Amino acid sequence: MSDWSPSSWRQKPIAQDVTYDDEPGLQAVLTKLRRLPPLVSPTEIDRLRQQLADVAEGKAFLLQGGDCAELFDDCSQDPIEHKLSLILLMSLIILHGSRLPVIRIMRIAGQYAKPRSKPTEVIDGREVLSFRGDNVNGYSVDDRRPDPQRLLGAYFHSTATLNYIRTLLHSGFANLQKPLDWSFSHVRSPELQEAFSSVVESLKDSLDFMNVATGGAGGSARGGMETVDLYTSHEALLLEYEEALTREFHPHKTFTTPPVSRSNSRVRLDDPTQSPARKAPQASSGKHYNVSSHFIWIGDRTRQIDGAHVEYFRGIANPIGIKVGPTMAPEELVRVLDVVNPDRLPGKVTVIGRYGADKVQQYLPAHIDAVKATDHVVVWQCDAMHGNTKSSQADPTLKTRHFADIIQEIARSMEIHKQKGTILGGVHLELTGEVNEDGYSVTECIGGSMELQDKDLSFNYRTHCDPRLNYEQSLDVAFLIADHLKAKRRGETPRDILLSSLRGRR
Ligand code: PEP
Ligand code: CO
Repeated sequence: MSDWSPSSWRQKPIAQDVTYDDEPGLQAVLTKLRRLPPLVSPTEIDRLRQQLADVAEGKAFLLQGGDCAELFDDCSQDPIEHKLSLILLMSLIILHGSRLPVIRIMRIAGQYAKPRSKPTEVIDGREVLSFRGDNVNGYSVDDRRPDPQRLLGAYFHSTATLNYIRTLLHSGFANLQKPLDWSFSHVRSPELQEAFSSVVESLKDSLDFMNVATGGAGGSARGGMETVDLYTSHEALLLEYEEALTREFHPHKTFTTPPVSRSNSRVRLDDPTQSPARKAPQASSGKHYNVSSHFIWIGDRTRQIDGAHVEYFRGIANPIGIKVGPTMAPEELVRVLDVVNPDRLPGKVTVIGRYGADKVQQYLPAHIDAVKATDHVVVWQCDAMHGNTKSSQADPTLKTRHFADIIQEIARSMEIHKQKGTILGGVHLELTGEVNEDGYSVTECIGGSMELQDKDLSFNYRTHCDPRLNYEQSLDVAFLIADHLKAKRRGETPRDILLSSLRGRR
């Protein structure tokens, strides 16, 4: 990788670039970011890559989820606890059905930057810059100027979020005995009530058994049930930020800290991190890790083969995702894989399909065939959200998604992989366990077992970007996936009861 450096992306065209009018301010922030400590370690990152290699072989299931746009305001006790407990619950349900370890990656602690279809938008007759995420500009129309200080805000909010997640996990939050007091009062259909409750009963039984078997009951021994692995992820959109949090790591040594002067701000001209564009990249035996997050992905709008994002991604050791939709030609997908994973490392690349329920049949098979014809082994993941965004009928200014489309895309993807002899390794979802002051879940997607309708959307519509599954809808998805994987495990056709009762209820 001699022609790559953390800054070599600067020589390439950048899609979705942000223009700052305060260049000295930006440089000062980037200098500061380069000095700040890593949020995650190479050991954790490598462990995730190994686990994703298991996913690619069908030995584990990948559950990735969280907000579309995380906000700095989300960095607070309740929202973090709600999101974490939802992911843990979903993973428990899926694990129970599939009998596979579930790899949990949250879109959290850094999912701030958003690509937009247009650089500006018209609000109340006034043309303003689009909201690009809390690490670029503010949601309020008077705060749309990109402010480099927000990059520091992103680092510190990510740090505080991750710190609280680690604290919770180390304090028994993930203890599997805890979350079993679910209420299914939101579930309107009696068949579904019964189906969900029977899963929970059987789950409780298994957990009681395991608790005794692993010596957890009554003792303080860590029987492997009190805590879990949990990873963070975000779209690596703002490459200045990602570069500043890219660190070289030599096995058996600690990080190579960028040699930034500690006593004053004097720039060392021999320091490649200080003058990225001027200095030729240096050959080195270490590996470069993005230490802001365990897993990062390239969005559908920034995955150009000759673009800056693919250039940055090809040099880092983290496992990565590539969003793939209808506009990706099959041969282009293979070329991108060749570039980002020349060594064919297993678990390195997750192909995140986001076609839409009505398009997945048209595009996914050709993508699978193209990859199968190579020696690439990828994790196939279904992002069942981004191809299914529609406008609300009652209020066309609101974006929404139909629950039925979401499960349809997952079910169809599973079916296509089965026909092709490949494996759908996981799902990628936008979801939130967030509730309002009165304890109501968000109302952004239509359908699910609580039968949320289009006219209900404005009741508690909170997202600043794309519509998310709420707490109940997310559990519905987990039960459906668990049901499918259970049937697959037993060599049966999936029971259609859940699917059909939900399908009829748009
Ligand atoms: C996202 O994941 O929020 C996103 C913008 O997705 P995509 O790049 O697939 O459109
Ligand atoms: Co989104």
